[in-house]
Amino acid sequence: MWRQTFLILTTGALLLPAAEPEKPKNPAIGNPEAIAAGQKLFGAGCAGCHGTSGEGGRGPKLRNRAVWHTLDDDGIFKTIKRGVPGADMPGSSLEDEKIWQLVAFVRSINSPAIEQNVPGSPQAGEAIFWGKGGCGNCHLIRGKGGMLGPDLSNVGGLRPVEQIREDILTPDNDGYETYRRVTAVTTSGRKIEGVLKNRTNYSLQIQDAQGNLHMVSTAGLREITLEKKSPMPKDFKSRLSREEFRDLVAFLSRQSMRPAEGGK
Ligand code: HEC
Ligand code: HEC
Repeated sequence: MWRQTFLILTTGALLLPAAEPEKPKNPAIGNPEAIAAGQKLFGAGCAGCHGTSGEGGRGPKLRNRAVWHTLDDDGIFKTIKRGVPGADMPGSSLEDEKIWQLVAFVRSINSPAIEQNVPGSPQAGEAIFWGKGGCGNCHLIRGKGGMLGPDLSNVGGLRPVEQIREDILTPDNDGYETYRRVTAVTTSGRKIEGVLKNRTNYSLQIQDAQGNLHMVSTAGLREITLEKKSPMPKDFKSRLSREEFRDLVAFLSRQSMRPAEGGK
């Protein structure tokens, strides 16, 4: 019995390092300059088929794919270099260094922001979040803040940095159905105002400004007005300077609930 356990442990210990060899990443991956260079190349040679920011078109969508199926960095590299024979994807004649910049860009629109080397000062961004930006009026981070918008405590652990930027600049495009302002009047004349938290065919869950949740059945409603657009302000591009926006994004990119990361 003891002997068996011992053997298993030994084998395990011997096999583990061999099974997962440490492969160094190409230095372009996660490097902000390489990503920016890759973005330019992408705009010139790939956007025609994959969309300006990888949203897809004639070619498949290349962004916000939580799991990049079986393609690792090398796989993406080979796909770009060789193209996809038989499909509509041409190979590239760019030098390898440039192709790696493209891989870095494609990665950057998929990996969560916390894994990226995002430029800017998170400390300065934190001050903007709670101060000038007014973000904390609507968003919670680790239990502090408002509840009109989604909790952002894990936004860097979930979203690619490019998506965080777009969520701030073009809030109407994110496909959210919840968090819309709603006014409901019940058949008995009671008025409930707040944001939509959840919706089924039979009921609405509305959160009022005090944070109270109201469950209302649609059968008991006389009137319902649901705002289609995001309540999030749309003028951050003019209200924040370039540096402020960069720092804000750096701060949000560090928001992750992953235990190992810890930072703020
Ligand atoms: C003429 C249109 C076209 C152009 C230009 C093009 N692609 Fe594609 N790309 C496609 C198509 C179509 C596919 C899907 C191939 C398939 O069926 O697997 C694809 C697939 C890919 C894939 C693999 C996606 C996956 O899910 O496996 C990557 C990565 C990619 N393209 C990156 C690029 C990059 C980077 C460039 C610019 C250097 C580029 N493509 C230029 C049409 C194009
Ligand atoms: C008036 C309330 C309000 C303010 C102020 C506000 N937001 Fe939002 N935010 C929302 C709502 C509601 C959503 C949900 C999606 C939508 O409506 O766009 C959202 C969505 C987001 C998202 C996407 C969340 C996700 O799930 O990925 C990010 C990131 C974000 N906001 C960041 C900010 C930042 C940064 C600021 C300050 C510069 C800010 N918001 C100010 C209400 C607000």
